[in-house]
Amino acid sequence: MKKLITLIFLGLHTFIQAQSNAQNEYIKQFLRFPLGAAVNPKYLSEKPLYRSLVASEFSSITAENHMKMVNIHPEKDRFDFSKGDEIIGFAQSTKSRVHGHTLVWHNQTATWMKEFQGDQQAWENMLKNHIQTVVKHYQGQIAGWDVVNEAFLDDGTLRPSIWSEHIPDYIAKSFVWAHEADPRALLFYNDYGQDGKPKKMEAILNMVQEFKKRQIPIHGLGLQMHISIQSKNEEIKEVIQQSAATGLSIHFSEVDVAVNPKNNPDFVLDDQVNLKQIEKFKLLFSSFAQLPASQQYGITFWNVGDQDSWLRGFFKRPKEYPLLFNEAYQRKAAYQEVMDFFKKK
Ligand code: XIL
Repeated sequence: MKKLITLIFLGLHTFIQAQSNAQNEYIKQFLRFPLGAAVNPKYLSEKPLYRSLVASEFSSITAENHMKMVNIHPEKDRFDFSKGDEIIGFAQSTKSRVHGHTLVWHNQTATWMKEFQGDQQAWENMLKNHIQTVVKHYQGQIAGWDVVNEAFLDDGTLRPSIWSEHIPDYIAKSFVWAHEADPRALLFYNDYGQDGKPKKMEAILNMVQEFKKRQIPIHGLGLQMHISIQSKNEEIKEVIQQSAATGLSIHFSEVDVAVNPKNNPDFVLDDQVNLKQIEKFKLLFSSFAQLPASQQYGITFWNVGDQDSWLRGFFKRPKEYPLLFNEAYQRKAAYQEVMDFFKKK
């Protein structure tokens, strides 16, 4: 009887120990590269659970919106660094790296920029001033910048925007200006949907080659990786391989794996779907882990828990569950799977 009680006690003890170990283990401990999340400063200050989760689970922070033109440079002669600074402060208190997003984009530009009148030189001065003021403000606090975001269309042509319309060669110029402002920041070109879009991928690779020849400072490629359970593994692997072959740093910069990409209102999240999503997370993590260590800038998720996802907010897809944490900010099964994968390595 005494033996039985001891055995039960020991068993219980081991069980409790295992549980508490599991709670004290984090994916980021097992990675050789930073694990990041895009954050919203409002949630950092208003949702304690969100804040503590970001602090404990992630080692890199990207501002989801608050370093974009519309927020950081709302008027011609006024910059607003308040929210960006809040994010930097939080990251410093948690010893996280900060990734800057984004200096030049066709979306979320400021109204005054869209209405700007002037010749080519005036446009260049305006963009240069934007880039250099922002980069200098954060000099030494931001490891890398998405200098230009989403400049190519799926067919590989340059996307029409106020920048391409008014400033010839604006991509290269933006990199040069950013480099002048902070020569130590890593400079990225960031884009989405390269998988299955060979022309888009080719345009990016050609740009990198050309920049190398012209000695335009570019250090990394951001692959946003807004993928879905239907994305094709071979296409994903191919774009990772092609991007890595440039020798530049690689950032999976905005990861989410959509489970209901067609926004089916009757969608039900079942085990089968979960398994497909886990498979995609594993594909991303394992492919990234195979890159040369010097090229591993990090993997960043676009948002923290499923209810924060831009797929729900921006795209109004309420039945979307694309992240590692659920609505209650609890780890999903995928979290454990990814951690186990790295623990075994
Ligand atoms: C999105 C944000 O998540 C939304 O909150 C905002 O309304 C629109 O922009 N590619 C990018 C990101 O590079 O900046 C976008 O972020 C998502 C797509």
